[in-house]
Amino acid sequence: MAMTQNIDDDIREKLIEGAFRAQKRAYVPYSKFRVGAAALDDRDEIHLGCNIENSSYGATNCAERTAIFCAIASGARQIKMLAVITDDDDFARPCGICRQVMTEFVSPDFVLLALRPDRSYVELTMEDILPRYFGPTNLSKIDS
Ligand code: THU
Repeated sequence: MAMTQNIDDDIREKLIEGAFRAQKRAYVPYSKFRVGAAALDDRDEIHLGCNIENSSYGATNCAERTAIFCAIASGARQIKMLAVITDDDDFARPCGICRQVMTEFVSPDFVLLALRPDRSYVELTMEDILPRYFGPTNLSKIDS
């Protein structure tokens, strides 16, 4: 589990609120499983994401990636915190693809807020959710 990040309770509350708001925007005609995410970037801006399904199924985009990609497309380069809520009774569990995408953009003190519908959450580090992950620093060791 992560040490509590030095991020304002106010911002944390906005992030949680944002994840729940984004969940309502989920486009889920196939699974009916709604997921919402809110990403706090390196400029302290919040970006929302929901899952966006597709009739091909495979072209579906998860809420976590939607939020992260929105942040990056708006000019951010690091994500400090990501709040995620799903329709599951249990704490949100990002899929493997989203975990790998996170490795590309997480700040050194990144924290995932994995929420439950009752608003309780666990705080997890990148290493908690994808131990010994392959990330950008592994490639930077190669001589060019
Ligand atoms: N999904 C997410 O958006 N995030 C997760 O953490 C898990 C799964 C979506 C993908 C699909 O739209 C639906 O949930 C069922 O897998």
